[in-house]
Amino acid sequence: MPRVRTLVQLRSAVARFRGRGETVAFVPTMGALHEGHLSLVRLAHRHADRVVVSIFVNPLQFGPGEDYTRYPRPAARDRALLAREGVDLLWEPAVTDVYPPGDLTRVHVAGLSDVLEGASRPGHYTGVCTVVTRLLNAVRPDEMWLGQKDAQQALILERMATDLLIPVRLRRGPTVREEDGLAMSSRNAYLSHAERQQAVALSQGLAAAWILMRGGERNAQRLAAAIRREWDGYPLVREDYIAVVDPHTLEPLKAVRHEALVAVAAHVGPARLIDNFPWRGR
Ligand code: PAJ
Repeated sequence: MPRVRTLVQLRSAVARFRGRGETVAFVPTMGALHEGHLSLVRLAHRHADRVVVSIFVNPLQFGPGEDYTRYPRPAARDRALLAREGVDLLWEPAVTDVYPPGDLTRVHVAGLSDVLEGASRPGHYTGVCTVVTRLLNAVRPDEMWLGQKDAQQALILERMATDLLIPVRLRRGPTVREEDGLAMSSRNAYLSHAERQQAVALSQGLAAAWILMRGGERNAQRLAAAIRREWDGYPLVREDYIAVVDPHTLEPLKAVRHEALVAVAAHVGPARLIDNFPWRGR
């Protein structure tokens, strides 16, 4: 699998694809890859001639005291996984490739960035939007694949690409889960055995809400209460938020009509985990 580091190398590799008239799909990641990432690679393969993946642990999207330095970086394993998926180009930039000396520019999507994850992690989405703008400007793909696991991130990046007239199609892949329902995440590696067992509370709470909605429940407070009740059985799980919001504006809903995003975040031991499900009324 071809692997590049600098912007010049990346651009000439992508130019070779373009020279042959090939379409390019892009999957940005921070590495520590799991089936969630690989599912996006497979979707990308189905929709484009060439798949470009980036691995870059973006310092700008970590707050002070967050896990930037201890974020897992299993480079050799990640490369082997991507090679097995037939990735056409892996880009592993250095921090100075993405943030040139003297860099002063930040990209901020107002409003959407300040709620849910943004309220708990100030500056996080400015970091995400700034890095993804740069990655997109470097790769210039036809499409970029994002995971529903990070629904707010996908929504913000869709808004950003539209607002900044970035000529890319944003696409989402579904959340990939462990057998017990826990959404796959690089941060699951932080969990002890006992914490890992209790982390299932997030998806179990969401499943309880989903069953209620299927049965006709539309009241957001009662849906949140059902999730909270489910979590009561898991003392290692500390709620950050339980939210029933409009999936386009992220504004809280009192009652669900046709569409909703049910999103949760909780601390489990040293890890902060998130999960969600989108609801489209029947
Ligand atoms: P990272 O957490 O490595 O995730 C990379 C992509 O994989 C994101 O689009 C994320 O939503 C998706 N993903 C993660 N877990 C998933 C799962 N269980 N099922 C499906 N997709 C999943 O998200 C980031 O990196 C960064 O913020 C990034 C966009 C790369 C910018 O730095």
